[in-house]
Amino acid sequence: MNVDKAVIPAGGYGTRFLPVTKAQPKEMMPVLDRPTIQYVVEEAVEAGIDDILVITGRGKNAIEDHFDRSYELEAELEKSGKDDRLERVREITDLADIHYIRQQDRAGLGAAVQYAEDHVGDEPFALLLGDNFIESSTPSIENLVDVAEDREESVVALERIPWEEVPAYGIADVADTSGRSYPVDDLVEKPTREAAPSNLAIIGRYVFTPEIFDRLDETERSARGELELTDAMRELSAIRGTEIEGDRYHIGTVPDWLEANIRMALRHDDGQLNETVRRTIEDELDRGNGGV
Ligand code: G1P
Repeated sequence: MNVDKAVIPAGGYGTRFLPVTKAQPKEMMPVLDRPTIQYVVEEAVEAGIDDILVITGRGKNAIEDHFDRSYELEAELEKSGKDDRLERVREITDLADIHYIRQQDRAGLGAAVQYAEDHVGDEPFALLLGDNFIESSTPSIENLVDVAEDREESVVALERIPWEEVPAYGIADVADTSGRSYPVDDLVEKPTREAAPSNLAIIGRYVFTPEIFDRLDETERSARGELELTDAMRELSAIRGTEIEGDRYHIGTVPDWLEANIRMALRHDDGQLNETVRRTIEDELDRGNGGV
């Protein structure tokens, strides 16, 4: 089996990030100099997947504009001889072969994935959530693709998270976590801490065989009225989990986004930027701000 298509759901309302997401997609929130979704597209491309379907919706036009040509801007940069900036603008457009579909029924992640069926057809595909990205030496999705191609099964990326964060994630029940990948026995979406079978969380990277579309069709909406991808995954004939290494940045809420920017700025020594962030934090802490 060969995985050569990726799907990025980006149709959610981003309600946990209001009001900034009222007129702007959550996936366009910047981390340093790029919108979050660009890191996600780059991850897929680095893993050798350049056929990408983005599931968008009303109010998400900025995503399409970002990856589209901007003739006026390019002409302007060319005229003023700003070659390095021109190159960076063009790089975005040349990144991948990006397709879009607008989600009408915004009833959860499972409903978003259903919109991909026509594009991916009867083939396996990678799924990368558009509101988080992972920095690692090998693109995280590549690890999943390797396992999926080797085992011919669906694969989900897992990470051990602090127990207090468990209610915000889909959680896996796994009997034996030895080995590079292992069978997942069961999954539960956003359990209470007490009900959670483990602290192994689904972190938004998956590879699915086309069987997922049949399972989604059979899945009933959850108590919160959403078609949960996790519920459909429970019914797959087989699914493996694999833990991936790297730094994960989740852009779900203001604290998440702030943390992502600070961590990225400190880790990517970009001339003055790193120093400015470090000095600002130290100054604020010295002045007794920041809750200390
Ligand atoms: C979604 C999934 C959940 C997963 C999470 C990772 O939840 O439903 O299983 O753990 O992404 O970010 P959301 O954060 O969209 O509520």
